[in-house]
Amino acid sequence: MFFLRPTSKRRSLLLGCFIMIVVRTMLFVVHFYKEETARTRKPVRLRAGGEESPVQTSTSDSYVEWNEEDFPKPQRKRLILYWSGVRGHKVPVQKTAVNHTHFWPFFYAGKPGECPVPCELSSDQSRAQEASAFVVHARPPDISNLPPIENLAPWILQTNENPVYTPAMYNSRIMSQFNLLISYRLDSDFPAPIYPIPELHTPVPFHKRQGGVLAIFSKCEPVRTEYMRQLMRYIQVDSYGACLKNKDGLIGLYGKVNNRYVFKDHKLILSRYYKFSLVFMNQDCDYFIDDRLYHALTTGSVPVFMGTDKVDQYLPGNLKNAIIKVSDFRSPKELAAYLEYLSNNETAYNRYLEWKWKGIGDISNTTIGRWWRPRYPLFCQVCMSLAKGKLHRGLKLDYCQPRTYVDWGLEDPNNGFTDYYSMIVYGVLYCL
Ligand SMILES: *[C@@H]1O[C@H](CO)[C@@H](O)[C@H](O)[C@H]1NC(C)=O
Ligand SMILES: *[C@@H]1O[C@H](CO)[C@@H](O)[C@H](O)[C@H]1NC(C)=O
Ligand SMILES: *[C@@H]1O[C@H](CO)[C@@H](O)[C@H](O)[C@H]1NC(C)=O
Repeated sequence: MFFLRPTSKRRSLLLGCFIMIVVRTMLFVVHFYKEETARTRKPVRLRAGGEESPVQTSTSDSYVEWNEEDFPKPQRKRLILYWSGVRGHKVPVQKTAVNHTHFWPFFYAGKPGECPVPCELSSDQSRAQEASAFVVHARPPDISNLPPIENLAPWILQTNENPVYTPAMYNSRIMSQFNLLISYRLDSDFPAPIYPIPELHTPVPFHKRQGGVLAIFSKCEPVRTEYMRQLMRYIQVDSYGACLKNKDGLIGLYGKVNNRYVFKDHKLILSRYYKFSLVFMNQDCDYFIDDRLYHALTTGSVPVFMGTDKVDQYLPGNLKNAIIKVSDFRSPKELAAYLEYLSNNETAYNRYLEWKWKGIGDISNTTIGRWWRPRYPLFCQVCMSLAKGKLHRGLKLDYCQPRTYVDWGLEDPNNGFTDYYSMIVYGVLYCL
């Protein structure tokens, strides 16, 4: 203990032991408190027999045929009631046209005649008795506000967040209650990722790009932040977000100008002048992707992607050579060298932008293509599925291990010292 006088060796030993005991007790209390809150959390209102219903975890296309008669009030017209909010906001149900290039084109069931099945979407909870189905967004606290159990209409779960941050997705009591899934997952019943079709806008010419690598992260997930830290040793990375910030000039995520959120507009303008954008997802869960990828592609700032290895399914047609994958490199150093090489070779660099001139190509036979250019609006598809009686008896659980340093070829910068058990071992050794 360097801060004590050298004469007091015994005292420092005792102090060390004392600190270890305090730390150990604190860890125990935190652990115990977590367990307690987990047990005493508000119980989820489940439907009768819900706990016994088998959860199908094997195949994704194990539909159960339900008859109209299974529901007390079969109706010609189907009303889908969006029961919960989305992140605390009421869903903006759209009555007229839908703009598929917009980020949230989801809340639309079609004009009269646009959908083969008469279909309406509403968020008016007073119409619960009429509902043919209820939609609940997976993000708490909405999950604690489940639809009325008296109405036997099916329940539909919607999620745009990966399971690491959405515990409902691996809770069998909750998942067994739902009959259909709307998700960013391309293997869900209704794939609906927040990833619009990238636009062909002509990119800023190579020689006019002053910037090298752009990074904007507000959530400092430790692995991607460490990767970026190491990358910065070998190549200039301009970081405008909260994580390893070294540049000013970008408006904050929730910053407003003239009462409008303008973060994304600013980001889109800025990234046009960068050759590369770090598109590091916050976790590597299967199929998990968000609009960062769209931003980079649309602005012609070549995405350097970290995330799900299923990303290729989001890059149909000519987009297949449009990104650089972090997983193709053994280390941040190697990746940096490649980015440096491309920064000095316009021909090699422009290959990543070929799709801007060639067009996206044929994407009609891909899942993401069908989402980008759907035959029917999303909630019309849901009505069609309800009309056919295509429902699951419970949804598959979606587990996802949090990302680790090793996954991305990094050593744990904490050397395992923060690990709970090694802490105890070190403590015991110290006290002996
Ligand atoms: C759709 O939304 C995009 C982006 O907000 C906008 O630029 C475009 O003009 C809109 N199109 C229509 C038809 O409203
Ligand atoms: C630049 O890239 C092109 C295409 O990959 C390659 O043929 C050429 O040799 C490269 N030039 C240099 C100087 O590395
Ligand atoms: C679409 O893909 C499936 C399977 O990949 C294939 O069997 C089918 O022929 C394709 N259809 C068209 C029109 O390309």
